[in-house]
Amino acid sequence: MISRRNFVKNISLGTVSLIVLGCGGKSKGKTSIGANQAIPNTPTTRDKLFVPPLIDTRNTTTDLWVRVSEASILDAKKTSTYSYNTATDTLGLLGPTLLMERNMTSSLNFINELDVETTAHQHGLHVSGNNDGGPQSKILPGKSRTNILEIDQPAGTHWYHPHPHGKTGEQVIKGLAGLIIIQDPKEINSLPNLPRNYGINDFPIIIQDKTFNDDGSIQYNTQKSYGKRGYLGDNILVNGQIQPIVSTPSGWIRFRILNGSNARFYERGDSISFSNQQPFYVIASDGGLLSTPVSITSLPIGPGERYEIMVNINQNQQFDLMAGDRSILSLIADLSTYDNSQSILPTVLANVPQALNQKNNVTRTFELSEKMTINSKKMDMAVIDEAVTIDTTEVWYIHGKGARHTFHVHGCSFLIVDRNGANVPDWEKGWKDTVIISGKRPVKVLVKFNKIADRNSPYMYHCHMLEHEDMGMMGQFIVT
Ligand code: C2O
Ligand code: CU
Ligand code: CU
Repeated sequence: MISRRNFVKNISLGTVSLIVLGCGGKSKGKTSIGANQAIPNTPTTRDKLFVPPLIDTRNTTTDLWVRVSEASILDAKKTSTYSYNTATDTLGLLGPTLLMERNMTSSLNFINELDVETTAHQHGLHVSGNNDGGPQSKILPGKSRTNILEIDQPAGTHWYHPHPHGKTGEQVIKGLAGLIIIQDPKEINSLPNLPRNYGINDFPIIIQDKTFNDDGSIQYNTQKSYGKRGYLGDNILVNGQIQPIVSTPSGWIRFRILNGSNARFYERGDSISFSNQQPFYVIASDGGLLSTPVSITSLPIGPGERYEIMVNINQNQQFDLMAGDRSILSLIADLSTYDNSQSILPTVLANVPQALNQKNNVTRTFELSEKMTINSKKMDMAVIDEAVTIDTTEVWYIHGKGARHTFHVHGCSFLIVDRNGANVPDWEKGWKDTVIISGKRPVKVLVKFNKIADRNSPYMYHCHMLEHEDMGMMGQFIVT
């Protein structure tokens, strides 16, 4: 489990200045983070970034125990949590990172040791409905369920989390979430110099926000109590820790960023950036590599989205990863034992098709409303809302009524054709499965379905603000 005791308490280099930089609570910036909220917890000692263990799940069955656990997130207080555990790794929070490979099969056997039902969904994976772990695929307490994942998609960063209808927000905030890394030998061959040394120059960065009660427990009330904005925690954690520090080698570093927050957007004034305003490169979106790296200084990311970025750091340089004006992670290039000179930023990455308009596509429109509906309907487990024909490409228009949402589709990846008729930002010109929906402006996507989901195990589309999803902003569709 994550234990503060196991980590170095005294980072000799610049600890004092880091703590000063890290005091995010009372900043005078105009960011919306922290508005109407308590001052976040500030750690008195800084933890080394927790890197979840990497488990090779290729062509084997991996048991994952879903358990009540305990983590040391705050100084001096324990936090009761849920976590995913393997036979050899007991975690206090989150789950191991699961390594999968294109054209190989990973079987995940989830064993539910909670006293409530759960499900286990692999977000971003193109697998059939009966292996997708949606709300229909219940795992009752004391029971288990195996999802057989035949990996048939590009290299990329995905994640797994529970999906029980009405309870997803509560189970994710308590700690259930883990990363999935798909690798592809062909991609490794063609881009041998991308950073791929897990935990050394290639880091999982799971960003989530949580509010803690005085006794150290995670605060979570009814979904409704959070209103239209959903759950907004006082603290922004990286890999389950408040303001940790990561030691890196100098040179090119890769971050696989997941916004695993229940409802918080890191967007506009709250976007992800570095404290020195240094440019960085987006190399991948939800579904895999972009065609070329995209240089930016701030990245918007909504709930459920993933982006992979690369940043260059010089020996002994230090700066912070920021969410708006809050420091969430400090980087220090002090790992001189690892020769990172092989890591380079390629100029060309992957072959991403252009989202050209096709003719005669089936077209569907989805309207997300703050009444917690999609197309005026709330999620009903007994109703199939849409029926799609397998191996076809459809055009979906998704829009809101005023507020922000994200829209996620199971079992596929899509390309964004346009945003309200206008161009798509370069970092969104890759495979996606989750997209930010800003108010009434429609997002047009081209989506291809090539896996089966029948009536007994339909796919979902939904807002990935988990309180919205749990309150009914979700629908079911079949692909046959
Ligand atoms: Cu991230 Cu329907 O899920
Ligand atoms: Cu999903
Ligand atoms: Cu929403």
